[in-house]
Amino acid sequence: MKQFKLDVAFINREREMAELLNYLESRPNSILFLYGPKSSGKTTLMYRLFEQIEQEKEYEINFLNLREIFLTSYDDFIDAFFKSTEHENSLKSGIRRQYSLFGMFKLDAFTERMLKKRKEDPFLVMEREFQRLHKKNIQPVVIIDEFHKLDGLYMPDKQKRLMLELMNFFVAMTKESHLCHVVIASSDAFFIEQVYVDSKLRKTSKFMKLDYLEKEDVFTWLSDIRKNNKVREYTLTEELIQLIWDTVGGSAWEIYSILEDLFRLPLEKIIARIKQEKVAMIADWVDYEDIDNRRDLLLKFKSGSPIDRRQLTGRRNLLGQAVKDNILYYDPVEGAYGVQGKSLEWGIKGYFDET
Ligand SMILES: Nc1ncnc2c1ncn2[C@@H]1O[C@H](COP(=O)(O)OP(=O)(O)OP(=O)(O)O)[C@@H](O)[C@H]1O
Ligand SMILES: [Mg+2]
Repeated sequence: MKQFKLDVAFINREREMAELLNYLESRPNSILFLYGPKSSGKTTLMYRLFEQIEQEKEYEINFLNLREIFLTSYDDFIDAFFKSTEHENSLKSGIRRQYSLFGMFKLDAFTERMLKKRKEDPFLVMEREFQRLHKKNIQPVVIIDEFHKLDGLYMPDKQKRLMLELMNFFVAMTKESHLCHVVIASSDAFFIEQVYVDSKLRKTSKFMKLDYLEKEDVFTWLSDIRKNNKVREYTLTEELIQLIWDTVGGSAWEIYSILEDLFRLPLEKIIARIKQEKVAMIADWVDYEDIDNRRDLLLKFKSGSPIDRRQLTGRRNLLGQAVKDNILYYDPVEGAYGVQGKSLEWGIKGYFDET
């Protein structure tokens, strides 16, 4: 096995992991939605959860990461969710371990053919599978990452949105028949909002936010990069850690990127470059026909504090665009907009200081 000079870390998340396990250890009664800003660690946390319970015989986990899957039609959905065991056995176990290739439900070749010919109802196939597991005293768990990617797909009769049908089905499987746990993650805040404002779904779902790491976690992490990242070539003083925290906050991806750059550059240079990049990103984002509106909007976020949506009325399209472009982040549960990470706060600040 190759020894990297910098390895990925997994810091804390004990509270969040405990919350997920608490959900799984109670009889299913709701869908659990995991949401949070871009790159906050949702996928990583679910992989960890998967690994933790994969060993336990009383759970059967169907894990599906839709990010890597090409989805443009109903047939793509069938392919993603169902795999015949024939395919499965032909895959090398190493490849099979890459979670997205697991497929959700393993079928015999006959059922697979019937599904493809649309002579079988996929929801019934799933329910039968849950029932079968129950008889064997095994608890089914469905985990779907990037669920919003199903939006835009329709059922074969073209009338019904697949995503809504699937969510209704999951409501029936959790709240009504208590057959299976369902954890859905999404980095699309507006998808989560759709669920949150739908009174029927809201009453049958739980919402769990995964935010960036807290200051204490970042300090614990970086004061021992030898243990956490297998770094042997340098260490970080309290002062340097503080500088990193002040620049990127608890954004694990950006912290890792700084650790990588530290092998060849001093921290001041790295920080200067990050800030410069973020200013350029903001300048680029505002430079549209509606530049005045864009500047106006971002100026409100100069202090970095989140803003209640009720204080931002009349700007829905622009706010939506800012969220889509990963400039702002929207928390549908708190009903507030904020800047997408601390390094972008520097970008906004720098942009207004310069202009
Ligand atoms: N607890 C953690 N400790 C250290 N690093 C972490 C932790 N959680 C995630 N990371 C790192 O942060 C990066 C982003 O994680 P991940 O892709 O899981 O986020 P995400 O929320 O799923 O992102 P997206 O919004 O794009 O779906 C990865 O490089 C991952 O290794
Ligand atoms: Mg993810």
